[in-house]
Amino acid sequence: MAEPKKLFIKTYGCQMNVYDSERMAEALGAEGYVTTGRADEADMVLLNTCHIREKASEKLYSDLGRLRPLKAGKPDLKIGVAGCVAQAEGAEIIRRMPMVDLVVGPQSYHRLPAMARAAEQGQRPVDTDFPAEDKFDHLPERPAAVRPTAFLTVQEGCDKFCAFCVVPYTRGSEVSRPATRILDEARKLADKGVREITLLGQNVNAYHGEGPAAEGGGDWSLARLVRALAQIDGLARIRYTTSHPNDMDDELIAAHGEETKLMPYLHLPVQSGSDRILKAMNRRHTADSYLKLVEKIRAARPDMMMSGDFIVGFPGETDADFAETLDLVRAVGYGMAYSFKYSARPGTPAAERAPVPGAVADARLQELQALITSQQHAAQEAMVGREVGVLFEKPGRLKGQMVGKSDYLHAVHVRDDSLRAGEIARVRITASETNSLAGVLVG
Ligand code: SAH
Ligand code: SF4
Ligand code: F3S
Repeated sequence: MAEPKKLFIKTYGCQMNVYDSERMAEALGAEGYVTTGRADEADMVLLNTCHIREKASEKLYSDLGRLRPLKAGKPDLKIGVAGCVAQAEGAEIIRRMPMVDLVVGPQSYHRLPAMARAAEQGQRPVDTDFPAEDKFDHLPERPAAVRPTAFLTVQEGCDKFCAFCVVPYTRGSEVSRPATRILDEARKLADKGVREITLLGQNVNAYHGEGPAAEGGGDWSLARLVRALAQIDGLARIRYTTSHPNDMDDELIAAHGEETKLMPYLHLPVQSGSDRILKAMNRRHTADSYLKLVEKIRAARPDMMMSGDFIVGFPGETDADFAETLDLVRAVGYGMAYSFKYSARPGTPAAERAPVPGAVADARLQELQALITSQQHAAQEAMVGREVGVLFEKPGRLKGQMVGKSDYLHAVHVRDDSLRAGEIARVRITASETNSLAGVLVG
């Protein structure tokens, strides 16, 4: 028998890319490729790229630079570019980078096996279409789970067109997968030992997929989908990300109060605390409407751990605007938040506007990150002495130690020889460390 071909995939960007990389590995698995963790022994290297900020998208070119000697010594090595940079710069990559053998955009992954074959025959295929068919229908079934947690894409693309963002261009317009497909995939994952599913979408709470015919069809909301998923035995936890404040409807908020499998952690980006900047960003909500929304969510689920995204240095942002962002962060009290320095992206409306000086944006980023870090520490400290559910995922660094995630998504480690990966246990938190919590089993 011939040696299997080896595939090395490097993934950047969001969880959707992580999910896509797994699906691409499965698709190429059917072509005889097995994955390797080493680029230097690969027959094919696939770079699954992110275009969200300039730094992220430049990584493609620095990676290609690093791969150049490898390719020079091994001319049969195939190099593929996937993901959002592939979508945005597809033709240009092929033109500028002779070492690249194939370029595939995020909506065309089901065509990857045929493209890999073409590349093996010396062609340089490019596919950045937004085809009408559902790529997931044309990808092979998912193999046995090796982890108790899994991502599951339910919605892709975005119609919101925030003035700074490339996602509507790289992922296309909002498309929801039919509920039946998602329920099938979730059931199979649960049968294979998955205990927690994170539903993915660029605007996951805008989900409006076709309902199962057996249940009358129609459009299903995310809340309806979550309630149906909660019926699956074996599946113990449901999460979803990323949500947009304007799609956080009452039905979904109510589900947080009623559905015990729906975890009390919500990533709800707001980007800025200044109404002037929110308007310039085309966010279509105000700081106050966001705060009222958070209040409403916490009324349904008082222990909800909030998470968010912020951009500092958006064109036109003044010190006073930035102060309003700090005020909003203080008002919400985040368990976790991500903050980014604004990066002008080609083709977006904001890229035409005069930038805030880099040093000013840097200083604001530092100040915001210090505030967020202090809130994260406070949220962790507040867990000490409390009992939480923990889904254990893998052995920790110390002997007999297992690590997992709490209901609130904190990393928790416990020393107990009886624990197995995939087990959910009640844990009393005994200490808060830099990036994790320590605890002991209850009972
Ligand atoms: N659909 C999601 C995720 C978008 S990308 C959402 O609406 O939140 C993740 C985060 O990257 C965004 O929330 C935003 O904070 C940040 N981001 C997007 N474009 C950016 C840009 N041009 N510069 C800096 N940060 C950006
Ligand atoms: Fe980008 Fe805005 Fe869409 Fe999020 S909602 S993906 S930030 S355009
Ligand atoms: Fe990046 Fe594309 Fe995700 S731009 S953040 S990989 S949707």
